[in-house]
Amino acid sequence: MKIEPFRVEIWMNEWETKCDLNLAETCVESLTIAELLDLTGQNATDLSALLPLKMTYGAIDGSMRLREAISALYDKQAPDNVIVTHGTIGANMLIHRSLVDRRDRVVSVVPTYQQHYSIPESIGADVHLLHLREENGWLPDLDLLRQLVVPGTKMIALTNPNNPTGALIPRPMLEEIAAIARTVDAWVLCDEVYRGTDQEGSGMTASMADIYEKGISTAGMSKAYSLAGLRLGWIAAPRAVIEEVMIHRDYDTISVGVIDDHFATLALENRDRVLGRSQHITRGNLAILAEWIETEPRLSWVRPRSGTTAFIRYDLPMPSRDFCVALIEETGVMFTPGSAFGMEGYVRIGYANNPEILKAGLARVSAFLARQ
Ligand SMILES: Cc1ncc(COP(=O)(O)O)c(C=O)c1O
Repeated sequence: MKIEPFRVEIWMNEWETKCDLNLAETCVESLTIAELLDLTGQNATDLSALLPLKMTYGAIDGSMRLREAISALYDKQAPDNVIVTHGTIGANMLIHRSLVDRRDRVVSVVPTYQQHYSIPESIGADVHLLHLREENGWLPDLDLLRQLVVPGTKMIALTNPNNPTGALIPRPMLEEIAAIARTVDAWVLCDEVYRGTDQEGSGMTASMADIYEKGISTAGMSKAYSLAGLRLGWIAAPRAVIEEVMIHRDYDTISVGVIDDHFATLALENRDRVLGRSQHITRGNLAILAEWIETEPRLSWVRPRSGTTAFIRYDLPMPSRDFCVALIEETGVMFTPGSAFGMEGYVRIGYANNPEILKAGLARVSAFLARQ
């Protein structure tokens, strides 16, 4: 199977270990196991709960305790509507591979996580892109969506909250998207890996799986829960989709690690504390970033409403990759070029890392911009 190289992952692999201050990271600053235990009220040095865990494959579709903790994140999903996967990346791959066939019409927003158009393209699907525009606050233009979603459309793929823009599709707009999908009986896949990081309220935006009878939500422990090292994600979807996915999943997953299942359950059963910490970081850091943007005349943005990233427009006669390479080489600060999302004139900043790293990094970027 031929597939397009995954541009953002290639950029990360190339530079992540060579930079000094990583402002390309999209996870809320990752937790250590000791911090997770501490945060969830366990004895921070006591790992005795791990000792009786038998290193079998474990529960094949995820332990019941874990699937219960995941289903509690939704209004209408029971444990039977949930299957555990190898990261959100595994969840997305399984959905596209299980539901999309050659010549099926798929509509994906861009910019987004590249899986959502490159996997269906590799399957031979007829992929149509809905370009999100800065002037619309990076939200989808529903008139354009109506034009693209013609009879025979198999799937609409969204990322909400969005990576890279940090835009948040509000519930009424999700309902309108569901109504558009319903007219042609299409699935709506919504990648919700950043759910839990909204800048306001509880931080938990509405989920497509709860809104639409053919809605599918994917998510995982990496971003909002700061536990990417668990490599644990999930799909929440109608039971028929879970059963279809299970057929494919037997070929590439079997199960996730028993230790991963254990720690994910612990984090989700204490999600208020884990998400509280994350929101403290994302809200505080976005305020720092906003203040900095104000002082930089060559930069502009649509202020993110959720997620961990901001998509910044820059006014310099330089392709985004050259900008980002020069920035790393001269200052050690790593951003992600807009070209990794197929968009020139922009860079993505991941702002959910340690605030001291963010502040130090932005100060170096200011000096860099002043030299241009
Ligand atoms: C929108 C989106 N989906 C999925 C993933 C992959 O997440 P995970 O680490 O849970 O596999 C990422 C990672 O950057 C992402 O940004």
